[in-house]
Amino acid sequence: MSEARPLTKEEEEHLVDAARKARENASAPYSLFRVGAALLAEDGTIYGGCNVESASYGLTVCGERTAVFKAISQGARKFRAVAVVTDSDPPASPCGACRQVLWDQCRDIEVILATPTRVVSRTRLATLLPLAFEFEGPR
Ligand code: THU
Repeated sequence: MSEARPLTKEEEEHLVDAARKARENASAPYSLFRVGAALLAEDGTIYGGCNVESASYGLTVCGERTAVFKAISQGARKFRAVAVVTDSDPPASPCGACRQVLWDQCRDIEVILATPTRVVSRTRLATLLPLAFEFEGPR
């Protein structure tokens, strides 16, 4: 489980900056909608992610899932927060697929939604994904 240690303003700023930087790498030639995400691990490491679109649209991977898969593949297992930056205002919130994957790997972390210029809201994953699906696999 993630520890309930809310982000300070300084940590929030740092995380959102990382999401803004990650967004610069978005590859979104089809939608032109650039998404940056940054996932903060318990040890302070930040994993950035951006959306990567495919010519076969359904193969596109969202920014949030890119960040989660990067973190997990680097060995991180405990997380405190994720920041998502888009240029829509109010900013976009993680899609349903990303909510589930975030829940799978990070449980009830803080979620910070921001535009390129300001943080708009802070919530928690359990608020965005009530009654999340959990499956421990066959015994
Ligand atoms: N997208 C994300 O990166 N995260 C979300 O939570 C929802 C959507 C991306 C996918 C696609 O590249 C673009 O936004 C438009 O749907």
